[in-house]
Amino acid sequence: MTAPSANSVDVLARRFLFVTGKGGVGKTTVVAALAERFARAGKRVLVAETSPKEHLSGLFGRPPLPTQITELSPRVFGVLLDADVAIKEYGALVLKSERLVSALFDNKLVLGFFHGAPGLKEWAALGKAWYHSTESLADGSPRFDVVILDAPATGHGLDMLRVPKTIVELSPPGILRSDAEKAWAQFRDPAQSGVVVVSLPEEMPTNESVELCAALKQELSLPLLAVVANQVVAEVFDAPGRAALATMAEPGGADSASQALAAGVRRAAREQVQADSLARLATLGAPLYRLPFVPGGVNGPPAVALLSAALAAGT
Ligand SMILES: Nc1ncnc2c1ncn2[C@@H]1O[C@H](COP(=O)(O)OP(=O)(O)OP(=O)(O)O)[C@@H](O)[C@H]1O
Ligand SMILES: [Mg+2]
Repeated sequence: MTAPSANSVDVLARRFLFVTGKGGVGKTTVVAALAERFARAGKRVLVAETSPKEHLSGLFGRPPLPTQITELSPRVFGVLLDADVAIKEYGALVLKSERLVSALFDNKLVLGFFHGAPGLKEWAALGKAWYHSTESLADGSPRFDVVILDAPATGHGLDMLRVPKTIVELSPPGILRSDAEKAWAQFRDPAQSGVVVVSLPEEMPTNESVELCAALKQELSLPLLAVVANQVVAEVFDAPGRAALATMAEPGGADSASQALAAGVRRAAREQVQADSLARLATLGAPLYRLPFVPGGVNGPPAVALLSAALAAGT
């Protein structure tokens, strides 16, 4: 087991974590690495996946996630949040009658109504994930210490987070509103919940992360717990070396000396973009964790273990 440092990712363990960021930056990979780390630290973790095309289960070497909670590795459980299944389960909780639930929710018209109601699909998924973060075992201990939501990318992720706020503000009193109020209070409490924003140390993803963090703080007042810069490459050049290479034009010659210099100029340029992006990501108001670029990609448990150890080592 990796010995955690004082600023290890272990300090982020909360009842509910919402992981979002630009499409393709490594959200699912970070969810797997966080889950692995928390489980190694002794916590029971549920990863809730919002994408039916998920590859989260593959990162644990397991077949595709079902819509029922299933064990992925010791102390790590996973579930696919399917809106129809979630709406039906929610109905069962509210109506407390299996026959009534089947009569209502196996009816195409009723399901059609839910799909047409703005935000209800998002709430069904988010509300189900939240509900699991409130469950207790018979001895009173929490069923899961940490629930991690692998949320949709930036815009849709924000839309999902806006839903409970909208329900709280607009919906008439009733069970829907009282649940949304409880969830919203929990999401806004930094002791219980938080958002983890994943980015790449590149210009466009960094711009998007800056906007995302502003929306989270200013519009939604949600706690930003951490920013993760994923796929950070080791620096070959220091700042003066990068500056020197930046003044050189990329030589076009086919001889090996020109090619080596051209490769150096390109690498230095990439490292400069990375250094600038990391500097910006560090100013977003939350600790910045850096995850290394893994040659060959992150496709299974060994690479997840490597990233999880990097998270344990700290910021
Ligand atoms: N640290 C890393 N080193 C190398 N490759 C990585 C790393 N992190 C993620 N990848 C690769 O990047 C790709 C995208 O990762 P991932 O699926 O986790 O992103 P995502 O943000 O969840 O994407 P989506 O928006 O489609 O859900 C995958 O092929 C993954 O293996
Ligand atoms: Mg994903």
